[in-house]
Amino acid sequence: MEEVATDASATRAPVGAAAVTPLVGLDAERAIPSPTGFDELDRVLGGGLTPGSVTLLGGEPGVGKSTLTLQFAMAVADQGATALLVAGEEAPSQVAVRAGRLRPAGDPIPGTLVVLDELSVDSIVAAVVAAQPQVVVVDSVQTVRVEGIDAPPGSVSQLKAVTEHLVAMAKRHQVSVVLIGHLTKDGTLAGPRVIEHLVDTVLSFNGDRADQIRYLRAVKHRFGPTSEVGLLTMTSAGLAPLADPSGRFLGDRRPGLPGSAVVVAMEGRRPVLVEVQALTVDVGPNHGSTTVQGLDAKRVALVSAVMGRRAAMSLARHDVFASTAGGAKVTEPAADLGLVLALASSCTDRPVPAELVACGEIGLGGEVRSVPQLDLRLQEAYRLGFRSALVPASAPEGPTGMRLIRIATVGDALTHLADAATA
Ligand code: TYD
Ligand code: MG
Repeated sequence: MEEVATDASATRAPVGAAAVTPLVGLDAERAIPSPTGFDELDRVLGGGLTPGSVTLLGGEPGVGKSTLTLQFAMAVADQGATALLVAGEEAPSQVAVRAGRLRPAGDPIPGTLVVLDELSVDSIVAAVVAAQPQVVVVDSVQTVRVEGIDAPPGSVSQLKAVTEHLVAMAKRHQVSVVLIGHLTKDGTLAGPRVIEHLVDTVLSFNGDRADQIRYLRAVKHRFGPTSEVGLLTMTSAGLAPLADPSGRFLGDRRPGLPGSAVVVAMEGRRPVLVEVQALTVDVGPNHGSTTVQGLDAKRVALVSAVMGRRAAMSLARHDVFASTAGGAKVTEPAADLGLVLALASSCTDRPVPAELVACGEIGLGGEVRSVPQLDLRLQEAYRLGFRSALVPASAPEGPTGMRLIRIATVGDALTHLADAATA
């Protein structure tokens, strides 16, 4: 027994001594991002891609991953740097067609954009050594293989091995590697999930294909915050930044219609105004159903229940439809108060005042609670012409010229709605 203990301490001592480095005085290795020139991506990454890093871009087929990566590869090449595109999903000629579509007529495709359609890790490394690119895009990681592993590309063992090799390559050659990964709803392909822990940054790219709006988010980011969101729109010439998201979401609003209220949601650090709509249909003593789109169904259920119990406005006899307009998605509790207004407005057939926005979370007690970044939200609402805001009692001062209506409960919100209708 004693011998074992002695042995253990004897081996542990030198290992411990070698592994310990005092943090004080250690030069922090600065990871300096390098802008790609594609602004929405640079915004989400906090400046750009970091040399030597690996980024995974995940999204469902058809969302626009190949388009996005080709656009920033072209932006990189436009700056005179070299971008290498590994085309596993499409033939190089198809990539060329796409590139032509993304360029205004006559504008040449930059010569520093090179396409490789050989899909082993060894050939990617060889191409990196030969072309010395700053950025390498692999479209997709599920098509690449490591020679000698007895499993098809896209399998868990290949995905892990490919990623490990490319991580090593990125470090050794100080290139920024972007791996495209297809996410499938049914999980037939080993999802890129299995490599998330191996890479520095994970970006998710999503949006309704029927709708043109796309959201680019950092889910994991070793070099910066994950709070920023890129808002893009798919056009006939590729992805373009969504210039005025609030204006877009409110574009077709018809003020004065019962069942409509405007809320301010946060997309990353950007406030975005969104119209919340509700339609309630009395179905008599039958228990009504609830249909939700663009909002969190659980919040809709909670808000309806609170309205019934705390403010005597029961929706039990109603079919309830709740949605956002313009394809916007708002799942944060800050939209609760606007939802109360929209539901009550539909029930009573009284419109919400046209220039009013609502910001507040609803608690189970019927209380109206504060929301993060209320000042930013109210500034954006003011910018778009909203002159009054229904806010929690604790709200700080709003923008000059904006009237804040401070309320404590759901009941207060309903009273305000009724008063506004008779005023
Ligand atoms: P794609 O980038 O191929 O998606 P992914 O790589 O994620 O599978 O593009 C998706 C869709 O975008 C495709 O159906 C065609 C459309 N699209 C445009 O609307 N405009 C364009 O300029 C391009 C290149 C594609
Ligand atoms: Mg693609």
